[in-house]
Amino acid sequence: SNDPRVSPIPSPRMFKEYFQYKGISFPRLIYSEQGLREVENKFQVRDDDVFNVTYQKSGTVWMLEILSLIHSNGDPSRCRTVPNWDRGPWYETVLGLQTARSNQPPRLISSHLPIQLFAKSFFQSKAKVLYTVRNPKDVFVSLYHFAQIFRPYKEPGQLDQFLEQFLEGDVPFGSWFDHVKGWMGLRGHENFFWISYEELQQDLRGSVERICRFLGKQLDAQAMDGVVENASFQAMKQNKMSNFSLAPRFLLDQTHSSFLRKGIAGDWKNQLTTAQSENFDRVYREQMQGLELSFPWDEL
Ligand code: A3P
Repeated sequence: SNDPRVSPIPSPRMFKEYFQYKGISFPRLIYSEQGLREVENKFQVRDDDVFNVTYQKSGTVWMLEILSLIHSNGDPSRCRTVPNWDRGPWYETVLGLQTARSNQPPRLISSHLPIQLFAKSFFQSKAKVLYTVRNPKDVFVSLYHFAQIFRPYKEPGQLDQFLEQFLEGDVPFGSWFDHVKGWMGLRGHENFFWISYEELQQDLRGSVERICRFLGKQLDAQAMDGVVENASFQAMKQNKMSNFSLAPRFLLDQTHSSFLRKGIAGDWKNQLTTAQSENFDRVYREQMQGLELSFPWDEL
């Protein structure tokens, strides 16, 4: 309705509506064509920028927390006083772009953009990208639950049908396969580092050491403890600056599920049928064949 007394939230039509930008779907509620054009063509990347890049649901906020904590030498005070979306804004969102532009350097910036839509100025800079990948079956399961609580997204409907859409890349940010193939094309470049969610799970401390080496940052043992403790799933779930409990209700409704939902590797085994998993494997093989990439989940 147009009744101005109702509420100051966006028009109901904007909820769950997607638009296409260069063949990729984006939810209208928090993205705009103009914002995406600005990011791609006008955003000025600085040499000291650090980008936290992922396909959605691959461990973005986890890496964001790790990078925030490394920056503060393991001291959690900033993580406990500033919401994660201000510490490492998603610069392709309308609000995130403003925050990214106004944050003090060195900036931490998060992004789910596929490489072809990323800020062009990055490719002439010395800025660093950390790319986190996750078993796509777990990405899918996590997204299936997330789409039910994140109001800019369409309801996922039946799992089987949503799986078809995911495998075809008919979801926001497009195909997981294209995203990973695109970004992993940068491996070997000195400004590019990649790691998997599964490695973070297996050995968080060792992973933080590798990340520090890439960033050229040295942490003593106490600082390292601070990072590892405060980036744990439990610590993040308890931190209201990291668990999205401060997110406006019109964006996220955590009454039935949480952003920080299970935080494990391999939940797909509880959620996909054998037929669904085999179908997934078939598409995975088709899409990834011939690539000299090996991931922790390949042996599973
Ligand atoms: P689940 O839905 O499988 O629990 P993103 O940040 O890219 O949206 O990814 C969210 C996923 O990362 C969720 O997965 C969430 O629980 C998981 N996650 C976030 N922080 C984590 C942590 N500290 N440890 C393990 N998993 C974490």
